[in-house]
Amino acid sequence: MIETDRQSWGADAHERKVENLYGGGIENYLGHHDGYLNFGLWEDGITDYVKAAENLVQRMGTLLGLDHGSKLLDVAPGMGTQDIYLSRNFSPLSIDGLDVTWGHVEHGRRRAREAHLEDRVRFSHGTATEIPFPDQTFTHVLSIEGPEHFDTREKFLQEARRVLQPGGVIAMADFIMKRRPRNLVEKIVAEAARSLWKVPRANVYPADVYAEKMHGAGFENVTIEELGALVIPGYYFEQMKPETIKAITRIRGVMLARLSLLLDVAVYRGFTMGLLEYVLVRGERS
Ligand SMILES: C[S@@+](CC[C@H](N)C(=O)[O-])C[C@H]1O[C@@H](n2cnc3c(N)ncnc32)[C@H](O)[C@@H]1O
Repeated sequence: MIETDRQSWGADAHERKVENLYGGGIENYLGHHDGYLNFGLWEDGITDYVKAAENLVQRMGTLLGLDHGSKLLDVAPGMGTQDIYLSRNFSPLSIDGLDVTWGHVEHGRRRAREAHLEDRVRFSHGTATEIPFPDQTFTHVLSIEGPEHFDTREKFLQEARRVLQPGGVIAMADFIMKRRPRNLVEKIVAEAARSLWKVPRANVYPADVYAEKMHGAGFENVTIEELGALVIPGYYFEQMKPETIKAITRIRGVMLARLSLLLDVAVYRGFTMGLLEYVLVRGERS
């Protein structure tokens, strides 16, 4: 295993901006939402956030086809809860998590220790566009709600292909732009969501372009499933609950909590306007 320690990003690096977005107040996160940051998959009558978050992770493990022989690279694992879940429920040989936010790496390592899984579930600090592992190390690559941030998603796809063995599988939970904004209000909503969320302009495109980029990076049998209706409203209403707002304010401070509230509104409005969609993407390395 190659385990990087803390990286430092250049003053103008996109990675630094993303780390600032996620790192604020991270030491206070502890048990809130069990450390999950994903939007959740709110199906089959699920009304509890953690259950919705786990349901999404379960769906991703199934989409990847994880089994006892898998060596998984999880890019952007956040605070690592999803990898503890995947390790317990799919028993892969190993999971390596790679996240750009140092505070997330620390949480992940702590969680792995507490779960007595530190030999099988490891976390490194680094970026999706320069993956610190040799060619063909992994059988599977996962990213849940990370790829929209990567500078660029296309570079990440090339890196993912490099570290995957032939026939290896990639699965992503991601966001796409469904159509171009048609008027000023739509333009403002789309731009607010993109810039608050630190999404590079180069990552803003619809599903057919996404599929082309997957093929261009060397993936075949590509599928893209739109799931926004089962994902975005459930998360939005969870985030708007007074107790969630209070918890986020306590964890991240007033300014960052307001910023994330604004972001949640922009994403939800973007979805209801038909601008934004949530997708599950899968491909096989050629
Ligand atoms: C919305 S969170 C999702 C975290 C986790 N997958 C979850 O669902 O709980 C986005 C994650 O992407 C990570 N991230 C963003 N850009 C990254 C990059 N270039 N390389 C690695 N991780 C990145 C952030 O640090 C953050 O942990």
